[in-house]
Amino acid sequence: MSVPRYEDAEDAMDFDDVIMGRRSIRGYKPDPVPRSLIEEILSLAMRAPSSMNTQPWNFTVLTGEPLDRIRQGNTERNLAGIPHSREFRIGSAFDGAHRDRQVFVAKQLFGAMGIEREDKAGRQDWVLRGFRQFDAPVCVIITYDKVLAGSDDTPFDCGAVTTALVNAAWSRGLGCVVNSQGIMQSPVVREHAGIADDQVIMKAVAMGWPDESFPANTVVSERKSVAEAARFVGF
Ligand SMILES: Cc1cc2nc3c(=O)[nH]c(=O)nc-3n(C[C@H](O)[C@H](O)[C@H](O)COP(=O)(O)O)c2cc1C
Repeated sequence: MSVPRYEDAEDAMDFDDVIMGRRSIRGYKPDPVPRSLIEEILSLAMRAPSSMNTQPWNFTVLTGEPLDRIRQGNTERNLAGIPHSREFRIGSAFDGAHRDRQVFVAKQLFGAMGIEREDKAGRQDWVLRGFRQFDAPVCVIITYDKVLAGSDDTPFDCGAVTTALVNAAWSRGLGCVVNSQGIMQSPVVREHAGIADDQVIMKAVAMGWPDESFPANTVVSERKSVAEAARFVGF
C-alpha cells in the first residue's frame, strides 16, 4: 500500500495542531471505524524510525465479537483477582517525581469524572472501563517478533510506532489511548485475537471517534518543561 501524502489527505491537520491537540481519549462513540482508514493510519505510523530499520512491530486490529470476548475475559479475570500476566517486564512502583506525575494526572481524570477519593465503586468502575478498552469500537494490539526479544531497541521501536500511530489517528479525527490495562491479561488477548506464539504482546491502543461529551476526554495532561528535561552542551 502506498503511503498517503499529506496534500492528498482531505482531513489532514497541521503537525503542531496534531501534537498539541492530541490527548488520550477514554470515551468513544459507538460508530464503527472503516478498515481503510485504519490501514491509512497504520501506513503513516510505520514511517516511524526503527533500529537498523528492523520494523519489529506487528498489529492485530480488533473490533466486534473478538474484541467483546477480550473485554469480557479481561473483566472476569480482573474481578476474580487473577494476577496480571504481561509478557514484558514491569519495573517497581513509581516514586518521587514519577509518582507525583502519576498522581497528578489521576487527580485530573477523577476530577473531570467527578469520582471522589472515597468513592470505591466509582474507582472500580473506572478501572474496569480500562479493562474493557474504554468501550472503544477498535483495539490495536501491538506485538513484536519474539526472535528480537531481549534487545531494548525492540520495545523502543514499538514505542516509536505507537506514538506515530496515535498522532496519525488524531490527524484523521480519531482518538486513542495507549494502554497497558488491555494486555495485563495477555493470555485472554492471545486466545481471542489469535496471536501467534512467535509474537510478544506489548501494548494495547483503544481507538475510535471521540465522544465530545465524555468529561475525561477534556483533560490536558501536564508536561515538565524543556528546561527540566534538556541539557544543552556546547552551545
Ligand atoms: C505505555 C503506556 C501505557 C499506558 N497505560 C494506560 C492505561 O493502562 N490506562 C490508561 O487509562 N492510560 C494509559 N496510558 C495513557 C497515559 O496515562 C497518558 O498518555 C498520559 O497520562 C499522558 O496523557 P495524554 O496521553 O492525554 O497526553 C498509557 C500510556 C502509555 C504511553
